[in-house]
Amino acid sequence: MSGLILGIETSCDDTAAAVARGREVLSSVVSSQIAEHRKYGGVVPEIASRRHTENVTAVTREALSRAGADYSDISAVAVTYAPGLIGALLVGVNFAKGLALSLGVPLVPVHHLRGHIAANYIESALEPPFLALTVSGGNTQLVAVEGYTEFRTLGRTVDDAAGECFDKAARAMGLPYPGGAELDRVADDGKAGLYKLPRPVTAGEYDFSFSGLKTAVLNTVNTARQKGGEADVPALAGALRRTVCEILRDKTLAAADSIGAEKIALAGGVSANSMLRRLMADACRDTGRELYLPDPRYCGDNAAMIAVQGYYELAAGHTAGSALNAYASMGIEGTA
Ligand code: KG4
Repeated sequence: MSGLILGIETSCDDTAAAVARGREVLSSVVSSQIAEHRKYGGVVPEIASRRHTENVTAVTREALSRAGADYSDISAVAVTYAPGLIGALLVGVNFAKGLALSLGVPLVPVHHLRGHIAANYIESALEPPFLALTVSGGNTQLVAVEGYTEFRTLGRTVDDAAGECFDKAARAMGLPYPGGAELDRVADDGKAGLYKLPRPVTAGEYDFSFSGLKTAVLNTVNTARQKGGEADVPALAGALRRTVCEILRDKTLAAADSIGAEKIALAGGVSANSMLRRLMADACRDTGRELYLPDPRYCGDNAAMIAVQGYYELAAGHTAGSALNAYASMGIEGTA
């Protein structure tokens, strides 16, 4: 076998490795640390780094084994180098660096959000240009994808990310971490119209703001308790889900109009949200646009998306030397 790219992802609480040939994924292994972080109600950065250190070699071996490949079949190592938890990122970057050096193959740095967008290339024929809505626990952005390695940010959250808003609101409602997926499930049983939440206003037309919504949910929960009762969790979860998803849909459509985008892709953990997928599907059908949704396996953090984006970064000559560093924050336009 040849022409295989090994992807490594350790930006948060998933240790992941994958093998891909171009945009065809041969294997994808994700070792989740959720059970351990759940005890603390969120990701503990030092624990995440330590678990990556312990697991990254075994996860990589497993990815190679499932692909029926060996280290000698790997022709490049792609790794997430920004943005994310710095200690967690450094584990993956140093592992990838050592591996690339020992194998004598190129080291390809991949921006995490470029990777999330590339999850849409797996099992689809999507090609740029298109508009991407990247929605995860740490980011909410509207990005014009002008080429496989050319990006222009049109708008972003000015405070919390959509996933962070879901997670913090879910925690206040007593739902287990990570709350986004649980809130999505619980909301299905919620009575509509019981709660009305504010629609935040932002200065930038394509920017987002979710911290006010989070506070409104926290206030609703606390007010109910002060009165000796409890908020109706399914109804409140339903109101929050609808409000967040409608904001995401409306801003995405406005941004698509502004750049004349005929294709829209969702990316990141929140793109697994059932209502967001439904609302976007309806909106794209009504406006004659094509909608691309990553397979649920590739919505959350994984290394398949890193290997696939790594293929395009490598083709564009974006490789790094042994001095490659990791960065906690970096805009999607940045190159190594
Ligand atoms: O992309 P991801 O796995 O990690 C980051 O890079 O942040 O996204 C994780 C985020 C969390 O906030 C999680 O609660 C949210 O995605 N999430 C969801 C759903 N599934 C995961 N949010 C809403 N609805 C879901 N079904």
